[in-house]
Amino acid sequence: MTTTLPVSGAHFEPYEVVVGEGLTAGLGRRVAPFARGRTVIITDETVAGLHAPAVLASLQAAGVRARLLTIPPGENSKSFAELERVIDRLLAFGLDRRDLIIALGGGVVGDLAGLAAALYMRGIDLVQVPTTLLAQVDSSVGGKTAIDTPRGKNLVGAFHQPRLVVADIDLLATLPERQLRSGWAEVLKHGLICDAGFFDWLAGEGAVGAKGDPAALTRAVVRSIEIKSAIVGEDEKEAGRRALLNLGHTFGHAIEAELGFDEDALTHGEAVALGCALAFRFSAARGLCPLADADRVETVIAAAGLPTRLEHAGAFSADRLLARMAGDKKAEGGGLTLILARAIGDAFVDKAADRAAVAAFLRAEGAA
Ligand code: GLY
Repeated sequence: MTTTLPVSGAHFEPYEVVVGEGLTAGLGRRVAPFARGRTVIITDETVAGLHAPAVLASLQAAGVRARLLTIPPGENSKSFAELERVIDRLLAFGLDRRDLIIALGGGVVGDLAGLAAALYMRGIDLVQVPTTLLAQVDSSVGGKTAIDTPRGKNLVGAFHQPRLVVADIDLLATLPERQLRSGWAEVLKHGLICDAGFFDWLAGEGAVGAKGDPAALTRAVVRSIEIKSAIVGEDEKEAGRRALLNLGHTFGHAIEAELGFDEDALTHGEAVALGCALAFRFSAARGLCPLADADRVETVIAAAGLPTRLEHAGAFSADRLLARMAGDKKAEGGGLTLILARAIGDAFVDKAADRAAVAAFLRAEGAA
């Protein structure tokens, strides 16, 4: 079954996210209306080997002539140097404003190709074809694009909404198990933010999605995108409600940063899972949320094979984590912004979290 989800907001062109199994064969037909001139597929070397032949064949069958531009896999490609190289190749290919970029890959490809599309000739059309669970449920939808700098991740970017997103569940079959579990963390996050019923399903019958069951994955991706697109539609530029999508990210990002963003040590999704468990336990410790909910969050995250305790990721200093959290780009005016919860499915933004309480909590959690 194929599901088409609309994404619309007051300040951007509406677009569709198509989710289902076996979508790659018909990708060309869906992309053709946006391919008025030349088309360049930006992908990485790993994804190119797995999926480029089928994507190119589908585009060709629909009369879309495309060429490949590959980048090295991994977060290091989200750099000024790689952005410059990509833009230089687009110029060498002679792309103009009517042309199209297709981002075929995970979050790194989507973020870099998206930023290149935002900047090239002041913006050209972009189609996202996410190939990881994390990219399907999060980074391909909503228009955030970015590269990293030595001072931090995602610090240079632009909002550039795609014209179309095609999430083919079949492409997840080639994902390593750890990558699938990492994407599952973002799925759980969506339930935790605003849909307790969805979280119940993910904890029970739907849990097989974390192990690759295609039907469960399809339902999990569809519901995640419904939740995300509703939030993005209300608040594209993260002036308010969109910050909820950062549940688990302020704790998680600080932990990732302390580990030098070493994906072998802790993937982004694992950091988000651990961050969600911490956010719920901190909420419970502050008397904002029932302890039973925080315990259940921990049980469900652990059952998916994801970390829930600081000690699962390493040894940390509370002061260093707090400094990282306060330096997070979501912090405003020196305050500490945290996404906390009143219950499973009821997250809220706290723009003035008590730093001393956070430091004490981190120590109670085992940080030095
Ligand atoms: N990944 C969070 C957002 O798109 O806002």
